Amino acid sequence: MVATDTKVHVVNHPLVQKTLTGLRDLQTPSPEFRALAQRLSYFLIYEALKDLNVRQVGVETPVGPGTGVVLTDYIILAPVLRAGLVLADAAQELFPNVRIYHIGLKRDEKTLEAQSYYAKLPDSLPPDCRVFILDPMLATGGSAVAAISLFDKMDVKAIHLVSFVASPEGVEKVNKAFPNVKITTAAVDDHLNEHGYIVPGLGDAGDRIFGT
Ligand code: PRP
Ligand code: URA
Repeated sequence: MVATDTKVHVVNHPLVQKTLTGLRDLQTPSPEFRALAQRLSYFLIYEALKDLNVRQVGVETPVGPGTGVVLTDYIILAPVLRAGLVLADAAQELFPNVRIYHIGLKRDEKTLEAQSYYAKLPDSLPPDCRVFILDPMLATGGSAVAAISLFDKMDVKAIHLVSFVASPEGVEKVNKAFPNVKITTAAVDDHLNEHGYIVPGLGDAGDRIFGT
């Protein structure tokens, strides 16, 4: 069970759940899996960014003056390689000027510990920026905690984590290590199996996205 004070937001919209069902299905071939993953990415990015700050501006329509908004938050994306790339592609389409810092992490198959193989980050980031860590799978939480740690050292305004599927264990781990990090996900599943896979989950996200 996930403790009730965890900062996890499960997006229960029917279109999100239908898309996730396609991803879960073992019969879904890789090209279709990629398309569904891209679609789910748009939905989850849209939901994760719903609290962004805006400033009112005037806008001239063909019929007369009106009011609109511009975004005032500085957004940083941090996709965890490989599978996080699908979320980053969708987010970059929505925010073409966003800065992206890739985080290379690989789980050791035996120990399930996340091992870092790439991270090229600046020494500091603008203090008012919001960092979105993008990784479809939150399993043991080792990769998420390692990725969040990189940004937590910097003086940033907020760190969010966006995933397709989370395990209760992963949510607890992130919440315990970083109580202020909000998690947006399409599902918190039942448990992890002995290989650290989310049950029922959707299998190996990276392999299914990239057809490996
Ligand atoms: C998968 C997944 C996450 C990680 C989650 O990546 O995309 O990054 O495992 O597991 P955790 O919560 O137990 O750390 P993997 O390490 O298999 O790398 P890949 O995306 O390159 O296949
Ligand atoms: N990584 C995945 O891709 N799937 C899981 O279920 C766990 C880790």
